[in-house]
Amino acid sequence: MSGIPSAVAGVTQVEQTHDHLAPVYAQFPLHVTGASGVHLVTRDGRRVLDLYGGHAVAALGYGHPRWLAALADQAHVLAFQSNAVPLEVRARAAARLVRFAALPLETVFFCNTGAEANENALKLALRITRRGKVVAVEGSFHGRTAAAGAVTWGAASRWYGFPRAPFDVEFLPRGDTAAISRTVGEDVAAVIVEPVQGVAGAVDLGGEWLHALRARCTAAGALLVFDEVQCGMGRTGYPFAANLYGVAPDMITTAKALGAGFPSAALLMSGDVARELATDDLGTTFGGGPLACAMMETVIDIIEQEGLLANVRRLGALLRETCIVGPVTAVQGAGFLAGLRTRRPAKNIQSELLARGILTGTSADPNVVRILAPYVLEERHVVELRDALAGLAP
Ligand SMILES: Cc1ncc(COP(=O)(O)O)c(C=O)c1O
Repeated sequence: MSGIPSAVAGVTQVEQTHDHLAPVYAQFPLHVTGASGVHLVTRDGRRVLDLYGGHAVAALGYGHPRWLAALADQAHVLAFQSNAVPLEVRARAAARLVRFAALPLETVFFCNTGAEANENALKLALRITRRGKVVAVEGSFHGRTAAAGAVTWGAASRWYGFPRAPFDVEFLPRGDTAAISRTVGEDVAAVIVEPVQGVAGAVDLGGEWLHALRARCTAAGALLVFDEVQCGMGRTGYPFAANLYGVAPDMITTAKALGAGFPSAALLMSGDVARELATDDLGTTFGGGPLACAMMETVIDIIEQEGLLANVRRLGALLRETCIVGPVTAVQGAGFLAGLRTRRPAKNIQSELLARGILTGTSADPNVVRILAPYVLEERHVVELRDALAGLAP
């Protein structure tokens, strides 16, 4: 099983050549030797249009000159120091992220992965509220660690592995407004939700429902955590889905596109949450290292200076307008977290697209092909996808 098992489910398993690697990942039948722009290059010299971006990480595609230069420059200046040493690049990255988010979340804890960010967000919520229950949403994916896995839909029966969850968990049905007041009571420490669910198949939970969730959390004294590990950092065409919907959570977790290929994650928190923190409450060795910070700062610069949010909005709209062709009956999600709803099994469409030189993902929904394109995509690439889809059997 992969980190995101459903992303490649159904694609022919390649012969395992790396005998010393843990045999836990389903893999695309691709031998990638390099990449440039929005294309992967394979061992046999094929160029594959990458609309999956390594599980939503490759927001700038591959080999962006400013990303490469920033990495090299920072490596020469200072490749690593821990959080025991104050660093200007770390302070700058935090300020840059807070400004980019433009939400009332002005304190940042840097870490390494989405799961780690969620783990810390839930720990804080449980501690601050002194409550013992977390509410999550059906279809959710929050990561593989003890707390993140406990709030991931279906994990307990498939891969969770720990003998018990570290707190009580209840799942909310998606889009059910009545269930919110029934489920989010004064025993709930936090509600954790992906505003646009990724692994579920680009399922947009919508502003109305998220506003109702915000209101109920406030009334019940529960903290609202937006897991924007996949849908954040510009993927919806807005800094965060919180901006798209005008809903301010108490915490946002983010990763993936944040470093655009350099492992980076962050937990953004409100003043009320930050005020509860004291020395030693959270910690990490690698999180907020100088390389990660230089890359986060650079990624935000590039997104802003190259107008990439507008590009995601424009091409996301084009995708929705033009790609309901061939086997596709609808397009769901937001921006470049898009789900092509297919009449035939998504895994077959994925294989057929790959045979035509286009890499896409699948999802937990057997009839959704997932698109997690780089923000630097161009109109001609959407046309290429549309033409390829139009050539497939309905
Ligand atoms: C919404 C969401 N949260 C958390 C995670 C876990 O992130 P990581 O694999 O970096 O731990 C993922 C990974 O796909 C995700 O999509």
